[in-house]
Amino acid sequence: MSYPGDAASSLSIPEFRAALRRPVAAEHVASFQPSPEIQRLDIRFDIGLLRDALAEVERRKGFSDDVWGAIPLTQKPGHTGPWSENDLSGLYHMRSDERYQEEAFEEPVDEALFSEFVPDFADTYFAEVHATLSQHMQIGRMRILRKVSYNANSWHRDPEPRLHIPILTNPGSLFIVNNHCTHLPADGHVYFTDTRGYHTAVNGGLEPRVHIVAALPEGLN
Ligand SMILES: [Fe+2]
Repeated sequence: MSYPGDAASSLSIPEFRAALRRPVAAEHVASFQPSPEIQRLDIRFDIGLLRDALAEVERRKGFSDDVWGAIPLTQKPGHTGPWSENDLSGLYHMRSDERYQEEAFEEPVDEALFSEFVPDFADTYFAEVHATLSQHMQIGRMRILRKVSYNANSWHRDPEPRLHIPILTNPGSLFIVNNHCTHLPADGHVYFTDTRGYHTAVNGGLEPRVHIVAALPEGLN
């Protein structure tokens, strides 16, 4: 029987002994480390104003539930009332078990339709963030996503890439795309994550992690 990764090299015992003598790198994991699929963009917002806006939005609305906390910042023009389950999630693919077979879940969401900034938050700094990003690229669903302590997403891929703006984080909050894992500091920068590759987000820290996450309907073009 063959297994995924059978062609990868294995360590001989002498190589293994030598590897044990190497110093362990424990510093760089607490910093941002880019990869082709995770890049920092040359766009930076004021982290103090982002945190003030988060406090204000939470005061007005609050997160949708205790575990999957989401607050939409964009909507279909004129939208009122609750969001459908699919609009809160949307099409993704994953290999969910030992068959290693990729399957589709849920229905596609047309990100381009979510073109309006939620009017209730028009007076917050998040509106400025949306306007600035929109000068450079088309923005689809933009949400504030909270990930509670000791929580991970599924291992999946999406139809489109995403931008992340960390607002609250801790060193145990990590983003993984394909075989690369990095921490995204809450430094006001915009981070590109190519979530068309397999990815997950993990909060292995003690405090909740909060990011703005914006989908890019046009992808990289
Ligand atoms: Fe995703």
